[in-house]
Amino acid sequence: MTTTPATPAEAVRHQIQGEILQITVDNPPVNALSTAVRRGLMAAIEAADAEPRVKAVLIVGQGANFIAGADIREFGQTPQPPSLPEVCNRIEACGKPVVAALRGAALGGGLEIAMAAHYRVALADAKLGLPEVQLGLMPGAGGTVRAPRLIGAAAALELMLSGRHVKAQEALSLGLVDRLAEGDDAVAAGLAYAHELLASNAPVRRTRDAQGLADRAAAQAAIDAARADTAKKSKNLFSPHRIVEAVQTALDKPFDEAMTLERQAFMACIDSPQRAGLIHAFFAEREVVKVPEAKAAQPRKLDTVGIVGGGTMGAGIAVSALDAGLPVVMVERDDASIARGRANVEKVYDGLIKKGRMTPEAKTAVMARFSGSTDYAAFADVDLVIEAVFEDIEVKKAVFKELDRVCKPGAVLATNTSYLDIDAIAASTSRPQDVIGLHFFSPANIMKLLEIVVPAKVSADVVSTAFALAKKMKKVPVRAGVCDGFIGNRILAVYKQAADYIMEDGASPYEIDEAVRGFGYPMGPFQVTDLAGGDIGWATRKRRAATRDPKARYVEVADRVCERGWFGQKTGRGFYLYPEGARTGQPDPEVLAIVDAERQKKGIVPRQFTPEEIMRRYMAAMVNEGAKVVEEGIALRPLDVDVTFLYGYGFPRFRGGPMKYADMVGLPKVLDDIRTFAKEDPLFWKPAPLLEKLVAEGRDFSSLNQAR
Ligand code: 3HC
Ligand code: NAI
Repeated sequence: MTTTPATPAEAVRHQIQGEILQITVDNPPVNALSTAVRRGLMAAIEAADAEPRVKAVLIVGQGANFIAGADIREFGQTPQPPSLPEVCNRIEACGKPVVAALRGAALGGGLEIAMAAHYRVALADAKLGLPEVQLGLMPGAGGTVRAPRLIGAAAALELMLSGRHVKAQEALSLGLVDRLAEGDDAVAAGLAYAHELLASNAPVRRTRDAQGLADRAAAQAAIDAARADTAKKSKNLFSPHRIVEAVQTALDKPFDEAMTLERQAFMACIDSPQRAGLIHAFFAEREVVKVPEAKAAQPRKLDTVGIVGGGTMGAGIAVSALDAGLPVVMVERDDASIARGRANVEKVYDGLIKKGRMTPEAKTAVMARFSGSTDYAAFADVDLVIEAVFEDIEVKKAVFKELDRVCKPGAVLATNTSYLDIDAIAASTSRPQDVIGLHFFSPANIMKLLEIVVPAKVSADVVSTAFALAKKMKKVPVRAGVCDGFIGNRILAVYKQAADYIMEDGASPYEIDEAVRGFGYPMGPFQVTDLAGGDIGWATRKRRAATRDPKARYVEVADRVCERGWFGQKTGRGFYLYPEGARTGQPDPEVLAIVDAERQKKGIVPRQFTPEEIMRRYMAAMVNEGAKVVEEGIALRPLDVDVTFLYGYGFPRFRGGPMKYADMVGLPKVLDDIRTFAKEDPLFWKPAPLLEKLVAEGRDFSSLNQAR
């Protein structure tokens, strides 16, 4: 849909109400500070100063929000005047008291506008914050200069470095707002406050003169603490360090100079690849729910959930459903298993109680919505069933036959399988139109990703129901097609293979993990194997052994490790050693000896790999398979691959996802790498036709995000 951009006069209306000039920002959906809004605000403040009848000014947002910040869509384009700092400074310079009345989002540039006003009132639903850091940015319209003056360096740094939203009551106690107001009418609250200020002859009160930095020693101590913390926690990130230094500048320099330096640092953030990656992630996670079925069909009724299997996944899924407010019926094989299933669910809540994040009464209330049974008849009335039994197609088919027998017509029948053919599972029922894949990630109550796997015969309203379930559960859903491993595990298998080849050719698993961590992942692939349990991958490899291409290179190191019973953390040993249940592993010389023996067996002379080369191979494998997944329609768009990896596989968010990363590196370079590696192993490094096509046409993956 294309819309004509609003003119400044449309985006910002102003009208005189007695002695007060009311300025209304009207730029749906969230009143972002587009060029038109900035121009409109400038014109409105000029009008307020020029008009003698006006004694005070009120700024409000049209609709449910004040202002959600700068217009993110404008970043990366040529900046248009006036800049947001100019607008804020103009508001602050106004010769008449300016009140901002806040409701809904007052975020980023929105809060900076509010801080430039002279007085602030917030309704109960207001959420205030400086979330720029989450977009690879820093406040760039006076936030780093005004917030410390208003609420002190410590509180300002905490807000800017966390990016968290603050509710009205907390904003009042921090000093971000002057008062709270009842109801949901920001105009009425703002007008009442402005009238009161006029009646008491309240002066113009500029935040630039506020005294939050008066205790210099305290401010310096807060900055030092934030600097040390940021060096530790955000070493791969660009903007948090700039935020700390901007507050240092705010302390050391006069107001105007600090504003100028803030702007320079902000522009450096704008130009950073991290900003591009993080803003891509912001939009991608909003686009990912826009799938054809969800647009075409309304979801079915979804008030109750059934779960088959109360093991690792079944219990985690049960917690997700309970936390979404849904009643849950769990069915297990026998009494002992259902008792264990219930205990697995309770264990999660007991953990929360232990950490003080839940009361025992709240647990009792939640568990009242949970029931267990060994009889499938318990599913007679549920709207949706999720199967999470052993990963065995025959077991799953038998379960689906039972579900087909007992569930009411129209119930959604979902499987949590990681790899199995969902079309085949659907075919074991008389109602394949109701069967879908809901692939949760472990631990299911924590991990945000939910792959919604769409088999050939499923009806659109079932897909739509799955997206509705994800929303209720606060998951990030990605639509995937049926294939071995869907989007995530299929691509994982390929780059894991690349890691195995690098290992056999000369790098140790520890060097590979370190390179991957250096790229920004929290863990490397061998650490992940140890955490998940090496036996899971081993079972998959054995299952696939018969269908493996005998010409394809196969690295046996992991099998040798598993044959010794070294399954990772749970056995105290895997690729790493975990003495006395330690969670961080130590390199194991015996694993290195296994690797060496495998090399010798194949006559491989080990060579050196730099971290950079490791990552080039790792990422080329990931991107190439990602391109195949998009081309085959397993993922709708490249951005679906990105979101899968951001939310399910620990891909560093500041890089935007593998496909965005490839765009930023440049697709010709990635393809060049693949062609170079193909000289060693043409079977593995076969360039994806889509990648070749995009390079030939001078396009990138993002062109496909817009196309669908
Ligand atoms: N600019 C442009 N579009 C924005 C936007 C922004 N700042 N914030 C939200 N949108 C768009 C979304 O993309 C979405 O568009 P779509 O309907 O086409 O998908 C629409 O507004 C609604 O957004 P949500 O789906 O996220 O709606 P919610 O109600 O769930 O959340 C929100 C609303 C809390 C405001 C959330 O959108 C949000 O957190 N927005 C970003 C806020 C932010 O980061 N502001 C700082 C910007 S940087 C800045 O201000 C720099 C300054 O310091 C100079
Ligand atoms: P698990 O072994 O922990 O639990 C399986 C449970 O199913 C057991 O409690 C068992 O008693 C029960 N069960 C077996 N047959 C049953 C039947 N006929 N009726 C009722 N209950 C039955 O297994 P886990 O790890 O929870 O995996 C379950 C499914 O989830 C598998 O398909 C797996 O591939 C998938 N999955 C697993 C992930 C993981 O990381 N563990 C991640 C994502 C999906």
